[in-house]
Amino acid sequence: MDTGLTGKRALVLGASKGLGFGIAQGLADEGVRVAIASRTMDGSKAAAEKIGKGVLPFICDTGKADQVDALVRDVTAALGGVDILILNSGGPPPGKAQGVSSDQWRNSFEAMFVNLVRIADQMLPGMIERKFGRIISVISSGVIQPIPNLAISNAIRPALVGWGKTLAAEVASSGVTVNAIAPGRIATDRLKQLDAANAERTGRSIEDVATAARGGIPAGRYGEIEEFGAAAVFLASEKASFMTGSILRVDGGQISAT
Ligand SMILES: NC(=O)c1ccc[n+]([C@@H]2O[C@H](COP(=O)([O-])OP(=O)(O)OC[C@H]3O[C@@H](n4cnc5c(N)ncnc54)[C@H](OP(=O)(O)O)[C@@H]3O)[C@@H](O)[C@H]2O)c1
Repeated sequence: MDTGLTGKRALVLGASKGLGFGIAQGLADEGVRVAIASRTMDGSKAAAEKIGKGVLPFICDTGKADQVDALVRDVTAALGGVDILILNSGGPPPGKAQGVSSDQWRNSFEAMFVNLVRIADQMLPGMIERKFGRIISVISSGVIQPIPNLAISNAIRPALVGWGKTLAAEVASSGVTVNAIAPGRIATDRLKQLDAANAERTGRSIEDVATAARGGIPAGRYGEIEEFGAAAVFLASEKASFMTGSILRVDGGQISAT
């Protein structure tokens, strides 16, 4: 499949490892000029070197509006604009819905919603003017089926979906698509941390927790970041020009709801 992505420019947030890294690698393989960001320059540089292909490293904590604005400025200066924007960030701490402090809710909402939208708002005018744009949010299967003990994720990610769905209709006639990808369980450090937290909470071994989790996935395994990245490459491609306002699941069949 010719994705038509050669020479396009992308910014991938939260990309020093995990899902963001998988997406950055997939886009770079298609000839996209990719900028990646994470909270440390060392982390971004190491990831950029690992991918090669001219990937540019930047620093940005999505919880900090000043860093977000600096990132937009620096990436625009380096690439001349962004055609593909991947809204991704670190996951919030696990925990129950009860007893989350107001400060924690506010901080998570800033990092997982407010500042992601802030970046998109600054990138959108250029996309609309060029009549091509792809905004892709990394969300979670918890949006479709809330995940126990991940209350902050279950509560905040739907905001990104509601925003994206509304925006999709506003910009559809300008060649800009807005979609989300919902990972089920993809093998990353984040998943290892969640399995470890679950093991501690329930008094089981990490291996027992992981085996039970795999048992709940029809594919019988966790997904790989390359498989997740491939979904993002498709949504970013010219071929996905009539897909907008959608949630694409990459979950090995885990979510049983239609
Ligand atoms: N893996 C899954 O199966 C799965 C399932 C559902 C949802 N998700 C969600 O998908 C997102 C990515 O998950 P992942 O599995 O790739 O996690 P990960 O392996 O922990 O990687 C997270 C990436 O985001 C960066 N990051 C963390 N906090 C950040 C922040 N405040 N600002 C900017 N960058 C930040 C990290 O780099 P630094 O630490 O260097 O900043 C790293 O590059 C998370 O929101 C996660 O909750 C993942």
